[in-house]
Amino acid sequence: MTKGEIIDLLKEKDEAVIENLLRYADQVRKEYVGDAVHLRGLIEFSNYCRRDCLYCGLRRSNSNVVRYRMTIFEIIAAVFEAKDLGFQTIVLQSGEDPAYTIEDIYAFVRRIKSEFGFAVTLCIGERTYEDYARLKEAGVDRYLLRFETTDPLLFRKLKPDSLYVKRFQCLDWLKELGYQVGSGNMVGLPGQSLESLADDILKFKELDMDMIGLGPFISHPDTPLQGSANGTIDMVLRVTALTRIVTKNAHMPATTATGTIDPEGRQKALQCGANVLMPNLTPRKYRRHYLIYPDKICTDEDPRKCRFCVESMITGLGKTVSRDAGHSLKSSFQQRKSSS
Ligand code: 5AD
Ligand code: FES
Repeated sequence: MTKGEIIDLLKEKDEAVIENLLRYADQVRKEYVGDAVHLRGLIEFSNYCRRDCLYCGLRRSNSNVVRYRMTIFEIIAAVFEAKDLGFQTIVLQSGEDPAYTIEDIYAFVRRIKSEFGFAVTLCIGERTYEDYARLKEAGVDRYLLRFETTDPLLFRKLKPDSLYVKRFQCLDWLKELGYQVGSGNMVGLPGQSLESLADDILKFKELDMDMIGLGPFISHPDTPLQGSANGTIDMVLRVTALTRIVTKNAHMPATTATGTIDPEGRQKALQCGANVLMPNLTPRKYRRHYLIYPDKICTDEDPRKCRFCVESMITGLGKTVSRDAGHSLKSSFQQRKSSS
C-alpha cells in the first residue's frame, strides 16, 4: 500500500468502504497468523518514571500518583500466579525507574527463566546498548518500546526529555541483539496528522517489527494534555486494520486502552487484525496506581478473573486460546536468532 492510499483510507467517509477494510484485515490476520489468540500476562512492577512525557499519567511531575515498586519476592509471586493460570509468556513493564539496576533485573529475569521457563518480555524504556546486551544474556526474549509517533516535531513536544533518534536507535540495537522487538504508537494524539499516522504504519513495516501495540490516546486530567480530545475507536480500528494489512504476520495486541475507550474495543480490534491479549497480573493493591491514562479497565479484578474474562472473550468470538508461546513469525527473526 502506498502512503497516499493509506491516507485516503484514514480519511474515508463512506462507512461501507471502512467495513470492507476491516473485513479484509480480518482475512489477512486469519491467513498469516491464524485464529489462535496469544495471551501475555502483564506485570506492572514499578510505576516510578524518570521521564515527563506530556501524555502519561505516570510522568514524574504528577505528584498525585501513589508510587510503588514491587520487590523481587512480589514479582516472583506474581510469576507463580501466571504459571498457575497457564500463561507461557509474561511481560514485565515499568516506568523508566532507575532504582532497579540492570543487575537487579538480570537477577530476577534469570530466576524467572530458569525456574518457570516463560518467554519473557521486557518493557522498561530506553537503555544503553550494554544494558540491552546484558538483559539478553539473562534470557530476555522480547522487548517492547513504542516509538509513539513518527512525527519528529510532535515527538519532541510530547516527550521533552527523550530524543527521537535515540528511540529508533534503541529499536535497532534490540533487533541487532536478537530480541523479538515490539513497537507501537498512540492514535489521536493532540496535533497528530493523518499523514504522520500513515508514516507510523509504514514505519512498522520498514522496521519489520515482530510485535505492534497501538491504542487511542486518552487524556489524563493530571497532565498538561488534560482536556484534549481522546483518540476515537473508529480511527484505532482503521489503524489496526491497515497495520495488519501492511505488516501481515506481526503479533498485534488488542490493547487495554482500546478496551477503555469502548467497552467492546478489544473484541472489535480482534476482529480487524489483532491476535494477542494481555491480561493484567499486577497485584490488585498496585494495579490502580498504574494509571497511564484514566478509567483504565480491569483495575479491580483479580488475575484469575481477568484470565477467565479474556478466555470467554476469545471463545465468544469463535477463536481459540493459543497453546504455544507465540514467538515471532517473522522470517527475519529466525535469521537474527541464528546469527546472534
Ligand atoms: N493514553 C493512551 N496511551 C498512553 N500511553 C501513555 N500515555 C497514554 C495515554 N494518556 C501509552 C504509550 C506508552 C504505553 C505504555 O502507554 O504508548 O508507550
Ligand atoms: Fe515515563 Fe514517558 S512518562 S517514559
